[in-house]
Amino acid sequence: MTGRQALAEIFEPGHALDHIRLAREADVVVIAPATADLIARAAHGHANDLLTASLLATSAPVLFVPAMNDHMWAHPQTVRNVAHLRELGYRVLDPDDGPLAIGEGSGPGRMPEPDTIFAHLGRILESDNTLRGRRVLVTTGATREPVDPVRFISNHSTGKMGAAIAAAAWRRGADVTLIAGHTDVPLPGGPRVIRAETTEAMARAVAGEIAAADALIMAAAPADFTVKTPSASKMKREGGATSLDLVQTADILQAASGARKRGSVVVGFALETGDAAEGGAEKLRAKNVDMMVVNDQNEEGAGFGGDTNRVTLLSRDGKREELPLMLKTELAEELLDRIGALLNGS
Ligand code: CTP
Repeated sequence: MTGRQALAEIFEPGHALDHIRLAREADVVVIAPATADLIARAAHGHANDLLTASLLATSAPVLFVPAMNDHMWAHPQTVRNVAHLRELGYRVLDPDDGPLAIGEGSGPGRMPEPDTIFAHLGRILESDNTLRGRRVLVTTGATREPVDPVRFISNHSTGKMGAAIAAAAWRRGADVTLIAGHTDVPLPGGPRVIRAETTEAMARAVAGEIAAADALIMAAAPADFTVKTPSASKMKREGGATSLDLVQTADILQAASGARKRGSVVVGFALETGDAAEGGAEKLRAKNVDMMVVNDQNEEGAGFGGDTNRVTLLSRDGKREELPLMLKTELAEELLDRIGALLNGS
């Protein structure tokens, strides 16, 4: 049977049990866009069309993705309907705050982007809930230290690894905060995002979150040096400085591992260009972390930028595990398996 024939059969007029069949077959039901009218009817248990009847007949999780005019979203009747749907166990996304229908200006009511909807679907369908209710703090990307208003010191980190970890941890049910420096990749929908431009800003953001975190995964590449006195105006080529006075930035990871809560797990990354394992082991001790993810920037397929990585995991107890070359998204899952096991005491 072709897909078209199958659809024709499902939607053939006069099938009295269509709503039951659709409801039973679904692993999850997504209503996007969910209009004010549909939300109102679902909240009151209507069943006078295929969609609302299917909602009553399904036992699958249901995700409403609202999209409507901002005044309609803010109306007390809609607010009450949405609250009621949530009380009943339905998931209702908050709409985005942005441009609405043409000529209608901007405000809360815009349908969330497909990436956000897919992220929520991933969280609903994920079978591994080992991180449910855990607070996971992830840092990612490169920080930028200003030289003058148009120049900065930074590094090649793209933020891919941390973004993948934050997305996967959120899928596994964690309450995720992602502290992001400069990144070249879109940040995942779901986690709460705090932007941090400089190493100092990232240090402050981590310090503000670490006491409540069950896990810190420090995948960011904070700049190690900052300009002592950045110029307030653009430095001119003619007669301008030819050297910069640099000072070391704070070691965020070291400070955070000293301020962590009891029983939490702290993971660092070590990017080396020489004897990677030796350098990583030294950093594990110095920064007092539970696990160090070590890779070699000079190795094919590893390090900044690419979609893959090949790492060695070093543990506090001296264990050393070499993982094969894999996608950063796969590595994120491997790391979270181990972090989940550490948190759950196994
Ligand atoms: N890190 C940090 N604060 C910094 C620099 C690095 O918290 N100012 C963190 C990184 O996020 C990473 C770990 O420390 O998790 C190791 O980073 P790396 O750059 O390899 O180590 P450094 O201590 O900067 O050592 P070096 O650059 O001298 O190799």
